[in-house]
Amino acid sequence: MRNDLIKLIPEFDLIQDKDLREKCLQTWEEGMRLGGWKPDDLKRMPFTLLYDPCPASMLEHTRGNVLVCVGVLDALKAVYARDLAIDRDILIAGALLHDVGKLLEMEEKDGKFVKSRSGKLLRHPVSGACLAARFGLPEPILHIIANHSKEGDGMRRTNEGVLLHHADFTNFEIFAK
Ligand SMILES: [Fe+2]
Repeated sequence: MRNDLIKLIPEFDLIQDKDLREKCLQTWEEGMRLGGWKPDDLKRMPFTLLYDPCPASMLEHTRGNVLVCVGVLDALKAVYARDLAIDRDILIAGALLHDVGKLLEMEEKDGKFVKSRSGKLLRHPVSGACLAARFGLPEPILHIIANHSKEGDGMRRTNEGVLLHHADFTNFEIFAK
């Protein structure tokens, strides 16, 4: 599972801190195990059930979020010569993990991806943050996961949380018809 995940999502290697990278992989592995998914399922799994048919996979969406976040951070750094108070590793880890709860929120029934029992009880920002907490991910990353969607609309997101939130909606709304 580990090697397959890294092959499918090479962006895990963008995390510099080895311990953080390890915890991110452990969280993903456990999400895959709990959801009963095989690595290649990530290529078929829709990133959202709100589009039918869904134009992008969970795999593409996760990678798209990481790369948009990194691209925006690099653009900001190219312009603003001062310290931006944006932690690159926290941002990348948050982007990789923001939708990990969807591995629990969905199930496949009769060849169709549908909301699971877990998903009816806990939305993915909540289940994803809980899953990541089990592997010791730090609070700034739990914050990104828990607040990346409407759950975080009433509060002040961290800078990393702001970047991921907008990257996520960019990766969502470009497919709206
Ligand atoms: Fe997302």
